[in-house]
Amino acid sequence: MPKRELWASRLGVVLAMAGNAVGLGNFLRFPVQAAQNGGGAFMIPYFVALLLLGVPLAWCEWAMGRLGGSHRTGSAPGVFHLLWKHPAAKYLGALGICLPLGVLTYYLYVESWSLAYSFFSLIWNMIGRTSVEDFRAFLGAYQGGGHRLGVSAIGYLFFAITIGVNYWVMSGGIARGIERLARIGMPALFLMAIGLVVRVLTLDPPSGAPPEQNVVNGLGFIWNPDLASLRNGRVWLAAAGQVFFTLSVGFGAIQCYASYLRRRDDVVVTSLSASMMNEFVEVILGATIAIPAAYVFFGHAGTVEVARSGAFNLGFAAMPSIFLRMPGGAFFGWIWFFLLFIAGLTSSVALAQPAVAFLEDELGWSHQRAVRSVWIFLFLASHIPILGFAGGALDEVDFWAGTIGLALFALVESVIFLWIFGAERAWSEIHVGAEVRLPRPFFYVMKYATPLLLAGILAAWAWQQGWDVVRMREVPPEARPWRWAARLMLIGMIAVTVALIRRAWARREKST
Ligand code: TRP
Repeated sequence: MPKRELWASRLGVVLAMAGNAVGLGNFLRFPVQAAQNGGGAFMIPYFVALLLLGVPLAWCEWAMGRLGGSHRTGSAPGVFHLLWKHPAAKYLGALGICLPLGVLTYYLYVESWSLAYSFFSLIWNMIGRTSVEDFRAFLGAYQGGGHRLGVSAIGYLFFAITIGVNYWVMSGGIARGIERLARIGMPALFLMAIGLVVRVLTLDPPSGAPPEQNVVNGLGFIWNPDLASLRNGRVWLAAAGQVFFTLSVGFGAIQCYASYLRRRDDVVVTSLSASMMNEFVEVILGATIAIPAAYVFFGHAGTVEVARSGAFNLGFAAMPSIFLRMPGGAFFGWIWFFLLFIAGLTSSVALAQPAVAFLEDELGWSHQRAVRSVWIFLFLASHIPILGFAGGALDEVDFWAGTIGLALFALVESVIFLWIFGAERAWSEIHVGAEVRLPRPFFYVMKYATPLLLAGILAAWAWQQGWDVVRMREVPPEARPWRWAARLMLIGMIAVTVALIRRAWARREKST
């Protein structure tokens, strides 16, 4: 049997895991969520969810993954089977392969926009666009609005390049592919983000603008607490959702990276370091770039308008227009989009790894064959969110895989680990090789608070709107076909994965 790969260094693990977590979500999703959901008050449910859901689940996922790795299995089917000797356990693991793949079918497309825009920012003053309106129109055309097929040639080209770059990184494997990318990419990302923060903090208001349109008030826009929003259930849900999304928990992607640890490698401190690195990038750096910059140039009302009109407009329409008006704008514009591309790339390889690990560990495929198959599949499957972009296919995939699916998977894994495998055993598994012991209250948080909160969130959703969402009550009939296509894609993915799991376990039986 060939040896299973391992991470080459501890720093490499932390950077790779931080790369997994730090993504488009930190720079595009977080500031918009905070601004829309009560500003500084949003940070209260956010930190509660971080402490009671995000960080505890990350410890569980790291420990489960490392345990799987010592049994030569890195994806959820194999890990769940180890923890729960029930024939159904491995099939529940299908979610831990399909959710990340599902997210990837649109994440790659957005990642490719940032690569394209990093080039565009060097030549913008030649394109002759300046206002946010201009750039919105530009973005719409880039995304394929008005094209017969629903995709622009240049958008398709950059999508193909993005697939190629991801494939190239992953064909190098864990240590020479993913870890090396993180070792170069993450320090570069920090430098670029800090450079942008300095640029934004030293921005002068444009001439003729009212004096209150300054950076300090821009920071206030994000941080001033609107305490009334705390009484709104939607705000709590949005905060929990953002914590999951940004830490990458609830997808099976952390398990998979952790399966390349050694048996006695610490997970307690290492997991916390990676999570805290992500929080620094999100709360400190992510919050100090796009929203304050928008505030300086467009003022309060303008920023509200952009933040409401969606994450993509802030990053891809407001930001270009801002860069054009500031000294050194072409350079900083390039940095902004290249930063997004690196953040996206270190996350997209993490989203693809569970599928690759499954094919290698459970079906015995060679690394090259597994990587090639997964990326050919992703190339094809992404056509649904791409061609159906205007038809809402992207939003549909994001909702099922990136919102409901992850809460479901997080609930499943926490029940399997803490209740079926058992909380005491889980606790000692987390502490194998640990450099410090976790305070005991976390035991109770993990055992009770985490699964109960998850079940509560899912039940509240199902009760309040589940059925209406399933039958698309609020979606006009003409917008439904692409959304159905997106659902069928996800269902088909799960069906194929279940069939492969069957085959893998038949193969296991034969070999014993
Ligand atoms: N955390 C990533 C971000 O902030 C996105 C993400 C969600 C992710 N789930 C993931 C990345 C799983 C890798 C693996 O953009």
